[in-house]
Amino acid sequence: MSAAAVERIAHDYLEVRGLVVDFDGFHAVDGVDLTVTKGDLRFLIGPNGAGKTTIIDAITGLTKATGSAVFGVELLGMATHRIVRAGVGRTFQTASVIEDLTVLQNLDIAAGMRRRRLTLLRARKSTPPEVTAALETIGLAEHADKRAGTLAHGQKQWLEIGMLLVQDARLLLLDEPVAGMSAEERQQTGELLQHIAQTRTIVVVEHDMEFLRSFADSVTVLHQGKVIAEGSVAEVQADPKVIEVYLGPSETFAPAAERPPKERPKVTGPSRPVATAPEKFRPPRKITPPTGGADA
Ligand SMILES: Nc1ncnc2c1ncn2[C@@H]1O[C@H](COP(=O)(O)OP(=O)(O)O)[C@@H](O)[C@H]1O
Ligand SMILES: [Mg+2]
Repeated sequence: MSAAAVERIAHDYLEVRGLVVDFDGFHAVDGVDLTVTKGDLRFLIGPNGAGKTTIIDAITGLTKATGSAVFGVELLGMATHRIVRAGVGRTFQTASVIEDLTVLQNLDIAAGMRRRRLTLLRARKSTPPEVTAALETIGLAEHADKRAGTLAHGQKQWLEIGMLLVQDARLLLLDEPVAGMSAEERQQTGELLQHIAQTRTIVVVEHDMEFLRSFADSVTVLHQGKVIAEGSVAEVQADPKVIEVYLGPSETFAPAAERPPKERPKVTGPSRPVATAPEKFRPPRKITPPTGGADA
């Protein structure tokens, strides 16, 4: 192994210290410390507005921040394209693939972001090996020539993850990757992320509790810009602060299988559809009490 490769692997962990993002005096991120290593599929959870997306924005250079975010090099203050070259990639809450291009073309463009200009200009006879590998990993090899716009919702998200793989992102920051996915797509995505996490550092922002329980190695819980708990799923779900702040007194934070399904829905009043959406973290004010069911 080359000295450069050894150095690269040695640096493959994210270390955030004292991260603060200030929006006109409001600290959306308020002194966050976060260490994530390769092989530890980390989930970052918390109610809407907790600052999860802002943390990702800060690490990827989209939002100004103070403190420190190191992935091999200090990322804060770096230009966004240099952060990409440092091996940091992210997805957005809505997929941002180019719909008019094929799956292969999307991957090829992403691969080009780290290719030298000369290589880009040279005509290539065959698909670059990293693109072939990514197509296999994300399960879209059969769909390589399909227009991205015609893919299913889940497949678009996988393509986006594939684009990070061919960019050689070694730190992946994924913002709610399974939002809107079917149960089967969520399962496949979880397996994909576990596979990728063996060789890369991953932070997944997620609301879906079932997904978290099935796939998280560790969890960081954010509330009002601050980390309030961190640990295994079991540790975090037993934490009184987490239960109090995120789940409200009426919601139990136990594995779904241990709970009779009838106890859970709180939105099944006569004028509302039966809740079929994945179970979400919500701030207590959003949990509708089961009394009356009278819509004003
Ligand atoms: N560009 C911005 N300007 C001002 N406030 C913002 C901006 N972006 C986010 N916020 C605020 O910062 C807080 C954290 O937002 P966000 O990181 O999107 O939360 P999450 O992703 O956890 O739901 C929220 O109160 C949000 O309104
Ligand atoms: Mg968000």
